[in-house]
Amino acid sequence: MPNPTKSYTVAILGATGLVGGKIIEILQERAFPITELRPLASERSLGSSIMFNQKAWPVQLAEQQAFEGVDIVLASAGAMVSQSLVPCAVKQGAIVIDNTSFYRMHADVPLVVAGVNDADLAGHKGIIANPNCSTAQLMPVLKSLHALGGLKRIVVSTYQSVSGAGKKGLDELRASTQAHLNSTVHTPCTFQRPIGFNLIPHIDQFLSDPDDPIWGEACGYTKEEAKLIVETRKILHLPQLAISATAVRVPVQVGHSESVAIEFERPVSPQSAIDALRHTPDVVVAEATNDYHTPLEGQDTDPVYVSRIRPDLAAPAGMGLCLWVVSDNLRIGAALNAVRLAESLINLGLV
Ligand SMILES: NC(=O)c1ccc[n+]([C@@H]2O[C@H](COP(=O)([O-])OP(=O)(O)OC[C@H]3O[C@@H](n4cnc5c(N)ncnc54)[C@H](OP(=O)(O)O)[C@@H]3O)[C@@H](O)[C@H]2O)c1
Repeated sequence: MPNPTKSYTVAILGATGLVGGKIIEILQERAFPITELRPLASERSLGSSIMFNQKAWPVQLAEQQAFEGVDIVLASAGAMVSQSLVPCAVKQGAIVIDNTSFYRMHADVPLVVAGVNDADLAGHKGIIANPNCSTAQLMPVLKSLHALGGLKRIVVSTYQSVSGAGKKGLDELRASTQAHLNSTVHTPCTFQRPIGFNLIPHIDQFLSDPDDPIWGEACGYTKEEAKLIVETRKILHLPQLAISATAVRVPVQVGHSESVAIEFERPVSPQSAIDALRHTPDVVVAEATNDYHTPLEGQDTDPVYVSRIRPDLAAPAGMGLCLWVVSDNLRIGAALNAVRLAESLINLGLV
């Protein structure tokens, strides 16, 4: 928890969105020391206000002048908005924790998961990036298992909820499901195909430029898959890590799930992985073979849930594990991590 003797002016860029709303909820839950909350959004939200600590804070337009006197910005209004407004906020003296993808792979921007690589905060130049939601939940698990057996090769398949696409994702799941039940037509606009009673192996754009310095290697993958690959390497400081991913949108409202197959450098038994994960902060392990977690059970909770830990029969004997990882994408994957990073910055004297 941050030092309660000081209090801050905190701007929430994207305050009316799913992530912004969760950030505000979590700031209140954790009694974050705030003198002034400044909710920022588009013209669409002007006239509305946000309840925080029993007070209504009017939503203001997200524009350059809105950052005057702000100490900390928690940003989740989309990559383009962060591209244009985050540098203005930093120029005016604020520290920005950005949930969008825009700055994550910039060499001078730390990409941090609280409890995993907080030490990287020390080098910040005003911007700290929060990883993609499917990357964030994997990091405490992979860090712990890397310490145990050395990560050699990882294959991840994600099952990502529609809230990962924001409010419009939730709206489209409801409309698409209703249309299916009513035998009427609903034309998808947020997702590429109908999401009700379906799943879609396509999140974000397909990558096609083999010469791109960051994404070129992942030509033919979607950008969501490539984000998981490159962000994992950056956070774990393993630039050569062999990792591939398939990202799938599923008709779940909240909570991302991941099937993960890991090959290790050294032998790792399921029991030793369970023991290591049991002692990993933020992780809850289901130890019984027939126990597991689902996204619905993880919704509105903070841990990363790991279950189905078993030998990977495709790896050399004793050298691989398969597991199932679930968490609330809006909390650990975005809002909670952002707030915890702000607390770490305060505690480390970096604000
Ligand atoms: N959802 C997740 O699980 C998740 C996880 C990690 C990262 N992220 C990232 O966080 C960002 C927001 O996600 P979300 O799920 O919260 O989306 P969302 O529910 O669609 O909310 C978007 C927010 O951005 C604001 N906004 C949009 N365009 C704007 C503009 N031109 N100027 C100012 N404000 C603008 C919206 O304001 P109005 O209400 O006024 O339109 C709203 O507050 C995205 O970059 C996403 O990639 C999301």
